[in-house]
Amino acid sequence: MPAPSTLLAPSILSADFTRLEQSIALATTAGADWMHCDIMDGNFVPNITFGPFIVQAIASCTSMIIDTHLMIAHPDRYIEEFIKAGSHQITVHQEACPHLHRTIQFIKSLGAKAGVSVNPGTPLSTLDAILPDLDLVLLMSVNPGFGGQKFIPSSIGKIRQLHEMRLKLNPEMVIAIDGGITEENAQEVVSAGADALIAGTAFFKAANPAQTAAKIRAMTR
Ligand code: DX5
Ligand code: ZN
Repeated sequence: MPAPSTLLAPSILSADFTRLEQSIALATTAGADWMHCDIMDGNFVPNITFGPFIVQAIASCTSMIIDTHLMIAHPDRYIEEFIKAGSHQITVHQEACPHLHRTIQFIKSLGAKAGVSVNPGTPLSTLDAILPDLDLVLLMSVNPGFGGQKFIPSSIGKIRQLHEMRLKLNPEMVIAIDGGITEENAQEVVSAGADALIAGTAFFKAANPAQTAAKIRAMTR
């Protein structure tokens, strides 16, 4: 399996943006593995966040892996800019990419790892043909657009199903889960097959983020 211990990816969306550098340092010293950057365009999702300029600022503050989640229409137009800004991994949405194979090859040709995300309402069968080409799948356990939402329970079954799919098609592929992750549901998510947990609220709004990070990273399947 890809990871010996659980990977933790705090989502910068829930950080204090008036103290961006300190927020990133909090994640770095807590031993976080990836810095998850949520890019929203007010079109594919009903919210707007930030672009490559901020990703570049974030990347300049840390040596962590910059994991960029593009919740935008026409992601191909912006992929190169986000990689130049310092993204090591780019995840696009299946629902936003009519030429998904081309998009994934494009990300890889620029030297970044390539991921696909699927919304809660999108069946995993839509990933059958592309799975062997992916470095990661980012399963949405909330409808994308906002931090602080409640975990959708049927996501557990989808993680199990995706885990079965990767055993057959791409054993090295990482399964990441995004939305509503808490200290309470993290173990169930890991047991179902997730390797990387995205945590916005659970990390940045925790009374003791370092302790939360340690607990989540210590979870094993
Ligand atoms: C939702 C984003 C998530 C979100 C996670 O559209 O993709 O990454 O910020 O935040 P929490 O952990 O608060 O659900
Ligand atoms: Zn995200």
